[in-house]
Amino acid sequence: MSEIKFYKHEQIPVEMHKVKIVQQLKLLPADERLKKIKEAGFNTFQLHNGDIFMDMLTDSGVNAMSDNMQSAMFRADDAYAGSETFYRMRDKLEEIFGIKYCLPAHQGRACENILAERFVKEGNCVIMNYHFTTAKAHITRRGGHVEELIKDEGLISKSDLPFKGDIDLDKVRKCIEKETPENISFMRIESGTNLIGGQPISYENMKEVTEIAKEKGIVTVLDASLLQDNLYFIKTREESMKDKSIREITRMIADLFDIIYFSARKFGFARGGAILVRDEDMFHSMEDLVPMFEGFLTYGGMSVKEMEAMTVGFDESMDMDVISQGPLFIDYCVKELDKYGVPVITPGGGLGAHLDASVICSHIPQQEYPAGALVCALYLCGGIRGMERGTLSEERNPDGSERFASMELVRLAFPRRVFTLSQTEYVIDRVKWLYDHRDMIGGLRFTHEPKTLRFFTGMLEATSDWPEKLVEAYKKEFGEEA
Ligand SMILES: Cc1ncc(COP(=O)(O)O)c(C=O)c1O
Repeated sequence: MSEIKFYKHEQIPVEMHKVKIVQQLKLLPADERLKKIKEAGFNTFQLHNGDIFMDMLTDSGVNAMSDNMQSAMFRADDAYAGSETFYRMRDKLEEIFGIKYCLPAHQGRACENILAERFVKEGNCVIMNYHFTTAKAHITRRGGHVEELIKDEGLISKSDLPFKGDIDLDKVRKCIEKETPENISFMRIESGTNLIGGQPISYENMKEVTEIAKEKGIVTVLDASLLQDNLYFIKTREESMKDKSIREITRMIADLFDIIYFSARKFGFARGGAILVRDEDMFHSMEDLVPMFEGFLTYGGMSVKEMEAMTVGFDESMDMDVISQGPLFIDYCVKELDKYGVPVITPGGGLGAHLDASVICSHIPQQEYPAGALVCALYLCGGIRGMERGTLSEERNPDGSERFASMELVRLAFPRRVFTLSQTEYVIDRVKWLYDHRDMIGGLRFTHEPKTLRFFTGMLEATSDWPEKLVEAYKKEFGEEA
């Protein structure tokens, strides 16, 4: 029962869990929020969590744990080498994915580091449906480059296509011909996507593209960090898969790949990561990199308590009642905003609701970071923390010019089982207000710009006094304390 039907009430998502432990929230007055965002250099990563009402920055490591996950922590086996916890985790992963060899790592990007160290050489190419920031940074750090071969329609923000994360098979064939298979480190499929609105990829598309890779002897890698959402979409949107269980679909996907890695800050609802490797020799060729960068091979930089919790979390990720929660709440939020006319990525995907800043803030030039400005405006107008996913999240070209992102998005993540529907309604309400006052939002410019992954630690300022004016308008509407 992943969606409860109503009799007289309009259809709304229902929480399939109840609250056992709570964290008190605080809503700072708007004037204080203005002070805080200035101190944070107009970068929502630099805000303190205590100054935030609705933290929708990410789902990474902040999904709610279940009672079963928490209680599993008590049986964690503390050992530097040979922890029984590791073997329980490895066996669970083998049960779910059918892959025997497991390299633990402290989070998703640590897996990406190991894969880049092992496979990427100067001048190499990595084929992807779409990049993720850290995946790309590790590849370019090693002198490789990324080819994003998503279908063109995947980047059209308003549409009703069910699988906007699908890769373009013609582009893939042409790219392999141009680069030659020997120069391709691996093909990385992100299921579902992060930077283009949490949009899923279909099983059919994964099957077709991995067949091409296999024909050409190219290693296939699945980034399964957002797999739980993608599984829900395959089951509910892909006609040929609707009668299969989540476990069956998972195994069918896993069978297509040589390597699967994931961030367990997402998949598994805890904090960690792992690389699963099908081939024994390939596994051994990466083994030494784990103690070098992460920790011994039976903990890989993770706490054993987290490993026990995620082992239960993997099982919960096979349960439709659990994995439907994110997509259903996101869908509700997206539909409500869309009804009002707010430009959002449609259809709703996984991970979060995504506002299209290129339309909402079309008056802000791309070099003044419209998505960065919108995300700060939303913090000012409601204490809501989202994440910029646009040009600020890109790195500059080697000649120092801006690399403009293909989409300017503000992501409002829905950490799983964390927020209620009334909190979701609050967010929808504040986004509507901000949309009606969108002309008041202005641009941003850097005051401190790091070379790589600048969105994490960069500091910016407003290009005018637009934040002050916006706060004044907000207070007029909602009062001094709002
Ligand atoms: C698709 C995808 N891959 C990799 C990562 C990196 O994982 P981590 O944040 O655990 O390093 C993320 C994190 O958001 C992600 O969404």
